[in-house]
Amino acid sequence: MERQLTIPGMIDPHVHLRGLDWSHKATFATETGAALAGGYWAVLDMPNTPPTTTTPAALDSKLDAIGSQAVCDWGVYYGASQNDNAVTYAQVIGRVCGLKIYNNATTGTLLIDDQVQRAHHYRRWPKDRVIAVHAEGETVRDILALVVQYRVPTHFCHISTAEEIGFLREAKAQGLPVSVGVTPHHLFLTEDDARALGALGRMKPELKRRADQAALWRAIEDGVVDVVESDHAPHTLAEKASDDPPYGVPGLETTLPLLCTAVRAGRLTVDRLIELVALGPQRLFDLIPPDGTYTVVDVETSFAIERSRLRTQCGWSPFEGMRVSGRVCEVWIRGRQVFDGEHVLAAPGSGINLFDQGGQGA
Ligand code: DOR
Ligand code: ZN
Repeated sequence: MERQLTIPGMIDPHVHLRGLDWSHKATFATETGAALAGGYWAVLDMPNTPPTTTTPAALDSKLDAIGSQAVCDWGVYYGASQNDNAVTYAQVIGRVCGLKIYNNATTGTLLIDDQVQRAHHYRRWPKDRVIAVHAEGETVRDILALVVQYRVPTHFCHISTAEEIGFLREAKAQGLPVSVGVTPHHLFLTEDDARALGALGRMKPELKRRADQAALWRAIEDGVVDVVESDHAPHTLAEKASDDPPYGVPGLETTLPLLCTAVRAGRLTVDRLIELVALGPQRLFDLIPPDGTYTVVDVETSFAIERSRLRTQCGWSPFEGMRVSGRVCEVWIRGRQVFDGEHVLAAPGSGINLFDQGGQGA
């Protein structure tokens, strides 16, 4: 294996950057800096942070804030809301990467647990644009029924059990337009770690059994998994120390090192790694990296994951203490170096919305 690996246009299609009303947890400036330090060209931000991205006005304020702060490229999801915001889809479609539907409870207030309401959103969203879903367990089947009916390309986020993998393997065999994401925490941690980590190991979906973890790795090997997504979800240490700690863990800076470590251990091929963090997400969202957009990672030098080296504003990681290899040396976007292994070199606001079709809507 070459010591230095060059990866074209890494994308994390599932992050919660925070900012706006949750800027005490993290900001678009800090977390897009963390994305560069993690090797990413672009990140796609979820709509559950208050004010939820479920109205054109809330979308405008998020686009303004992220647009002025981002140091990497980006996209944002619009959120399906309980009080039926489908009427606004035409207004926002030209500025967002997709629609997110929360079908099980998690951080924030977005939740649609009624199948009739879910069907309504599926019917109204454009058939050629992605819907990303938070669906756990049997809910995966409920969503698959909508994919059969409406044929909207659907990305299943953070799949975490052997059973869910089984449902999706079958759906793919039937030729349904579905894609599958798994997170590094479900690949590298289990419920055994959850006990030791306490609140720092608390997230949705929760950490699972070893047998589930093994099923995820098999699904990576046989191609059922399309992308690894960090589900980067920073919360402060004080919040995590409270009586009712919120769900979520940061992951932008640790995903690539963990996967490089798996390559060195023979659990993953280099080609598969590049598929999972770059080519897979590019395909899902029809993105082609601009010329001069790539990441150079040193896959040999090993180091321990430590708080003091992280850029995320929350300042901790569920992987602290793990020895990994895979240090990000350089990130380039459109022919300009934006990260040199230590410093962010890009100016705030230099990142662009990859899904901006002129602000006109569709
Ligand atoms: O653990 C999680 N945290 N899962 C989610 O679905 C949302 C996220 C957050 O926003 O904190
Ligand atoms: Zn998430």
